[in-house]
Amino acid sequence: MNTPRLFRTLEAAALGTAILLPAAFAAETESARSTLTVQAASAGTPISGDLFGVFFEDLNYAADGGLYGELIQNRSFEYSATEQNDWGPFFSWTVERRGGGDGGINIKTARPLHPNNPHYVALSVKTPGQGVGVVNSGFGGIPVQTGNAYEVSFFSHQLFMGEAWSPNNGIEGRPMPVVVRLESATGKVLAEQTFRVTGRDWQRYSARLTPGQSDGAARLVLLAGEKGGIALDEVSLFPVQTFHGRKNGLRADLAQAIADLKPKFVRFPGGCLSHGDGLTNFYRWKDTVGPVEQRKGQRNLWGYHQSVGLGYFEFFQFCEDIGARPLPVLPAGVCCQNADNSPGHGQEGLPLAEMPAYIQDVLDLIEWANGPATTTWGRLRAEAGHPEPFGLKYVGIGNEDQITPVFKERFKLIQEAVKARYPGIQVVGTAGPFPSGEDFDQGWQFAREQKVDVVDEHYYQSPEWFWENLARYDRYDRKGPRVYVGEYAAHERDRRNTLRSALAEAAGFTGFERNGDVVALASYAPLLARRGHTQWTPDMIYFTATDVVLTANYYVQQMVGQNQGDVYLTTDLAKAAGRKLLTASSVRDTRTGDLIVKIVNGDSTPAALSIRLAGLPAGNHRALRTVLANLQADAVNPDGQAPVVRPDTAEMSVAPEFAMEVPANSFTVLRIRR
Ligand code: AHR
Repeated sequence: MNTPRLFRTLEAAALGTAILLPAAFAAETESARSTLTVQAASAGTPISGDLFGVFFEDLNYAADGGLYGELIQNRSFEYSATEQNDWGPFFSWTVERRGGGDGGINIKTARPLHPNNPHYVALSVKTPGQGVGVVNSGFGGIPVQTGNAYEVSFFSHQLFMGEAWSPNNGIEGRPMPVVVRLESATGKVLAEQTFRVTGRDWQRYSARLTPGQSDGAARLVLLAGEKGGIALDEVSLFPVQTFHGRKNGLRADLAQAIADLKPKFVRFPGGCLSHGDGLTNFYRWKDTVGPVEQRKGQRNLWGYHQSVGLGYFEFFQFCEDIGARPLPVLPAGVCCQNADNSPGHGQEGLPLAEMPAYIQDVLDLIEWANGPATTTWGRLRAEAGHPEPFGLKYVGIGNEDQITPVFKERFKLIQEAVKARYPGIQVVGTAGPFPSGEDFDQGWQFAREQKVDVVDEHYYQSPEWFWENLARYDRYDRKGPRVYVGEYAAHERDRRNTLRSALAEAAGFTGFERNGDVVALASYAPLLARRGHTQWTPDMIYFTATDVVLTANYYVQQMVGQNQGDVYLTTDLAKAAGRKLLTASSVRDTRTGDLIVKIVNGDSTPAALSIRLAGLPAGNHRALRTVLANLQADAVNPDGQAPVVRPDTAEMSVAPEFAMEVPANSFTVLRIRR
């Protein structure tokens, strides 16, 4: 298409330039123009107020080594070779003997801190020298910043005679001096604190360390300074400045990146991870609450250790901190059909005799979240520091399960028990792993029979598929269950994050929004990936120990999240001849009265648009125009080395009828102020 001169001029101008053109401008542009008409003054159709959310899964080191603020890797010596072949309780730890020191470490289980946390270290000192101890280098180096404080803590006690490998251990009545240091890789001391470990019972020792210098890859060194021995467990280091300053909190920059998306809900703790690699690998919420040293970590389905330090309390608290609803997903009494560790390899159901206890766990979660502090489980929440109920509304039962008789029987038992006890809770069921096919059809049929409130659909498809399926929900039955697009992402063949994929997702979202009366919830997946530890690409946010890299896919989600509405306004797009990948949707945010128009141009040429905001009073209206665009549709590189595409926002003013050009490969949001 030949871009008309007028549009070229506009595009060259700063985004802040008002784009006000008479409706009947330049006749030369007529045939090339598309026309967008928005019923701006109509009552519109109410849509879900929770439509946009995020999906967190502990995948790609999203929890430990990711969103969870803990800086020590394998703090409780629970890593195991069942997780990775070369792992064991000492993974990420080394023994340290300084200045003629002699001694060593052993793993013990005889007198653990808690049965859920069975391994601990016995540290024996034969000759103190300048100290004998252990070193942890976190997740590939501990990042510390001068000016920030870090809380170091550990549990310890003096060893009994015979508990350490040296027969000369345990000098009665004399505390063991223990120095804890933050050191650079070259041994420079950044901060230190001395403790005196006393007695034969586990005690927690803690102090604040304030490094005198920043270091991207420091180590935590713990050295015992006298002959004898101590037991050691749960060695922890947290920045004091976690997100919202929470104890046992979240890494502030990552949590902020999620908060900036303005999600209305957070689904957790994952997809396949929730129902797990075999029946003994379910993510059991009760194992993840209470004092962290008493929680029961396990191998997660993605093949590494999850400490569950980021557990249900922390997930719910995070949701509250960012104004999002919690959406926990619990297994439907069956494990993941991709399980290797189930007896028959694949989906297995809990024995029916175990279902009553399992169902009780599900009901207990609702009591824990919503019950008064006087109830058994509500009291536990109150004791954790949250006497007020969390206001849980949605509970996911099952994750993209194969729709088998084993699944159906168990799902039905759980759903009916939840509805009988808590009729106000919205149960989110599942339609299998794909957007069509046998599981999908059977899942939907079953959901209709069971009158499930919301059905979770998953799709990882090509960008082309997204564009071809924009009308997918236009045909959905408005009287049946509503939809949760629980996992979606446009996948390029090479699984890179590209602007093209991000625009396909934006286009998909216009379809969700247009059908926001039946599409209740939607979340991109997966959310987080630590570089060097990814089991799945593409992801929305990549990070290292110190950096957060936002992709074009992130920015699309952010533009959508920051521009949600609760009423859909009829939006008609008459596309100019030859124009292919162009779509739009419009909503009103009744809280502010703002009118929000989203326009996606997936073509590699700019699109000339005539926009009519029907019913908008005459005159100029203040507007914000946010544009994510690049001439190259595949210009985005998650490693952050190629140009990173970012949205630009500028003020403009619009009339009820105006013309504008949307750039090639772009997502534009116009927010017209009331
Ligand atoms: O998002 C990654 C995985 O994709 C989820 O764990 C699973 O539900 C889906 O197959």
